[in-house]
Amino acid sequence: MAQIFKPGMNTLCTASIFAGAALPFLVLFTGSRITRSPYNNKVDNPLDQPAPFSHKHHAIELGIDCRFCHTGVETQAHAGVPATEVCMTCHSQIWTNSPNIEAIRKSWETNTPVQWNKVNAVPDFVYFDHSIHIARGVNCNNCHGAINRMPITWKGRDLRMMWCLSCHEDPSKFLYKDEKHPELSPRQQVFNFYKKLAKGEELTPEEEQLALGEEQRMPDDENHRNAGLAQMKDRNVNVNQLKDCYVCHH
Ligand code: HEC
Ligand code: HEC
Ligand code: HEC
Ligand code: HEC
Ligand code: HEC
Repeated sequence: MAQIFKPGMNTLCTASIFAGAALPFLVLFTGSRITRSPYNNKVDNPLDQPAPFSHKHHAIELGIDCRFCHTGVETQAHAGVPATEVCMTCHSQIWTNSPNIEAIRKSWETNTPVQWNKVNAVPDFVYFDHSIHIARGVNCNNCHGAINRMPITWKGRDLRMMWCLSCHEDPSKFLYKDEKHPELSPRQQVFNFYKKLAKGEELTPEEEQLALGEEQRMPDDENHRNAGLAQMKDRNVNVNQLKDCYVCHH
């Protein structure tokens, strides 16, 4: 009998029993890793952050421009998250003792970046670029929800492929237009939207929707449809190939 089981077989058996026992845990473990990865974050679910940073307060009540902190957003693929120096331009003088900025102070003293948890992300095999969307006048709120109302940041949209495609199929319904400031470029209009909110200016019904974080979508009547198409032409939006796989997967 002993001859049939060659030496080494025993260890192999033990190993496979162990592997068998470990498998369910492995599955659970990777499963939980996947569900906690940023592109599977739930929509409308605030994450724990090292400091309770409020966009409502900084971007609207204090009126700081998005580009002051997200310097890449109009020129690069990635918007970027600000370095501690940016916070310290103010926080070395104000609220210096607040426990809420302890993590910022520590980062400054130890010269190590703050470890913000990612709220929004697409998987590595997807190509996304902020700059072209901003250049064509797609408003941040359209993709991130009501940033202007967030005391702590959450994910405003699911960022799934079908969602990207629902706009790429016909962006004319989604381009932001500042009716009162047509002289501004589409890009400048995106940022002026937050200035309007900061100043408490009167908003159009579409802007109200956008400010609430609802999808800014123009009413589906002939007038709006024509206006949307004219705007696409004005802004050189080219939809012909916008749904091709290689646009987002290359
Ligand atoms: C004073 C600096 C500052 C300003 C101004 C600012 N942000 Fe931020 N933003 C941050 C910091 C810090 C984080 C990372 C922490 C967090 O997620 O809240 C962040 C995170 C974000 C995120 C989520 C990033 C992720 O992990 O997915 C979005 C979206 C965002 N900001 C959009 C905006 C928009 C839109 C504006 C302008 C209306 C703006 N921010 C203005 C500092 C700023
Ligand atoms: C232009 C100045 C300015 C900049 C830049 C700035 N802040 Fe602030 N921040 C303030 C002010 C003013 C307050 C006080 C708010 C109040 O009155 O409650 C504040 C409050 C805060 C609070 C809440 C403190 C508390 O005790 O409740 C946090 C957290 C915070 N800031 C984080 C940041 C971070 C992180 C950055 C950099 C990404 C940053 N701030 C950049 C001006 C600034
Ligand atoms: C067309 C949709 C869209 C618009 C418009 C948009 N974003 Fe994003 N944003 C995304 C997606 C998708 C991601 C995740 C990107 C990734 O994982 O590479 C993201 C990620 C971010 C992040 C995380 C860090 C980074 O570098 O990517 C920040 C900060 C951010 N956006 C800020 C902004 C600001 C500020 C604006 C407006 C000026 C804006 N976004 C407009 C879709 C958008
Ligand atoms: C609300 C509308 C909207 C949403 C949502 C949106 N896009 Fe776009 N996207 C556009 C517009 C408009 C353009 C510009 C097309 C042009 O001008 O030719 C564009 C262009 C692009 C381009 C560049 C194409 C090129 O030819 O260089 C990429 C890449 C892209 N989008 C990826 C994405 C991804 C990935 C998502 C989802 C995470 C997404 N977009 C969501 C409207 C949108
Ligand atoms: C406008 C951008 C965009 C275009 C165009 C696009 N995709 Fe995607 N795709 C995404 C995003 C974002 C994801 C990741 C989020 C998700 O899984 O939905 C994705 C995920 C995928 C996945 C992984 C699905 C999964 O469940 O993990 C496959 C496969 C895929 N795309 C194939 C394609 C094919 C084939 C085409 C052309 C017919 C295409 N995509 C066109 C944005 C795009």
